[in-house]
Amino acid sequence: MAHLIAPSVLSADFNNLQQDIRMINNSEADWFHVDVMDGVFVPNISFGFPILKHIKKLSQKPLDVHLMIIQPERYLEEFVKAGADIITVHYEACTHLHRTLQSIRSLGIKAGVALNPHTPVSHVENVLHDTDLFLVMSVNPGFGGQQFIRQSFSKVTQLKQMLVHSGSKALIEVDGGVDLSNAKELAQCGADVLVAGNAVFGTADPAATIQLLKKG
Ligand code: DX5
Ligand code: ZN
Repeated sequence: MAHLIAPSVLSADFNNLQQDIRMINNSEADWFHVDVMDGVFVPNISFGFPILKHIKKLSQKPLDVHLMIIQPERYLEEFVKAGADIITVHYEACTHLHRTLQSIRSLGIKAGVALNPHTPVSHVENVLHDTDLFLVMSVNPGFGGQQFIRQSFSKVTQLKQMLVHSGSKALIEVDGGVDLSNAKELAQCGADVLVAGNAVFGTADPAATIQLLKKG
């Protein structure tokens, strides 16, 4: 399978959000990556339900919602109502991760688990069949435009091996500092979905960059 591209709305121009959403709709992008931050789990606050609903109204592609919040289980239903097609919670933010994944799936959408750069992939080996998507953070979460952590290549490789050996069909997504210099290697290591914020919205022709990232 060719890898998918999920532009991160966090780097969009919020003065012209409609325009940027239309650009993604008309591009080869596959998903909208939507970063929700609570100022507690990560040292930044992004946006919540009103913005998410606005994006959902305009978007013609699935909403990939990345929750960087503590105790995300409190808000799952509300995120589904706001339009999430995939909800990814952080391994580090869930005391009862297995239960949270079951709750997300019971709401009829896909369940993802994100791993901070310091979290070994072995920590998720008991939820390989309960998860539709593993998100490997290749920067410390909280901000767009940070430098890619190169250790992420081997993490993706290891995770891919774990998934293949177990027969899990879960996808691997990579998030943080992804650009044209590392996209191809990430896909070769086993990444199925690449998130890109700055690399897409920081260029003169974002749609063309999405196309190039896809070719990898
Ligand atoms: C960081 C977010 C990312 C971010 C990626 O905490 O999870 O999705 O928007 O932005 P870039 O691609 O600029 O690193
Ligand atoms: Zn993200």
